[in-house]
Amino acid sequence: MGQEISLAQFRQWLLVYADRIADAEPLLTQLDAAIGDADHGVNMRRGLQKVCERLDDGGLHCADVGSLLRTVAMTLISSVGGAAGPLYGAFFLRAAQESNGNTGVTLEQLAAMFRSGLEGIQQRGKAQPGDKTMVDALLPAVKALEAAAAAHQPAGAALAAAQAAAEQGLQHTAEMQANKGRASYLGPRSIGHQDPGATSAFLLVAAAAATLGQPVHADQSAARH
Ligand SMILES: Nc1ncnc2c1ncn2[C@@H]1O[C@H](COP(=O)(O)OP(=O)(O)OP(=O)(O)O)[C@@H](O)[C@H]1O
Ligand SMILES: [Mg+2]
Repeated sequence: MGQEISLAQFRQWLLVYADRIADAEPLLTQLDAAIGDADHGVNMRRGLQKVCERLDDGGLHCADVGSLLRTVAMTLISSVGGAAGPLYGAFFLRAAQESNGNTGVTLEQLAAMFRSGLEGIQQRGKAQPGDKTMVDALLPAVKALEAAAAAHQPAGAALAAAQAAAEQGLQHTAEMQANKGRASYLGPRSIGHQDPGATSAFLLVAAAAATLGQPVHADQSAARH
C-alpha cells in the first residue's frame, strides 16, 4: 500500500484550488456568459477566497481531514451564491463524512470520498451524466480514481489519470445540450459551449493532482502560508 495522503496535502489542495479559480475567473465568467448569467467566476472566486480566510484562521477546525472538508463545505454553502455553492458544499460534506477523524487517507479512501461527494452533488442537483454539468467532469475522475485504487497504483499516477479523465469529460460537455440550470433554457443553443461548472470541477481535480498526488515538502507548506 502507498503512503497515506496527509492532512497538510488536503489543506494545500484547497489553497491551490483557490489560486487556480482566481486565475480562471475570467474564463469561468466568459463560459457562464455564453450559456448562463456570467456569475460562475465571481461566485467561485468569492467562495474560495472565504475558504482561504477560514483556513488562515488557524487549525481549530482542522484537526482532521473530515473537519477540514466540513469547514470548506459550510463556507462554500454560506458564501457562494447560485447553484454551484450548495452543490460543491454537498460534495465536500459527503467527502468529509468519509474522512471523519482521519489525519491521513489512503487512495482507496480518497476514491470513496470522491464517489460520495459526487453522489451528494447528484442527490442535491438531480443531474445525470450527459446533462452538461459539473457531474460530467467529476464522474470520469471518480471512475479513474476507483480503477487506480483497485489496481493499487500510487496516488500520483491515480490522480494524474483522474485529471486526464476529468479533462476529457469537460471537453465532451461542449457537445452536450444542457438539461439543468439556466443553460437548459437555451435548449439546443447550449450545444457548442463548454460548461462552466464542469470547468471549475476539472480545476478541482487538477488541483488535487498537484497536491494530493504529490508529497508536500515541509518547506513548501511553510512557504505557502
Ligand atoms: N442541478 C445541477 N446539478 C449539477 N450541476 C449543476 C446543476 N445546475 C447547475 N449546475 C452547475 O452549476 C454551474 C453554474 O453555476 P453558477 O455558479 O453559475 O450558478 P447559477 O448561475 O445559479 O447556475 P444555474 O443557473 O446553472 O443553476 C453549471 O455550469 C453547472 O455545471
Ligand atoms: Mg451562473
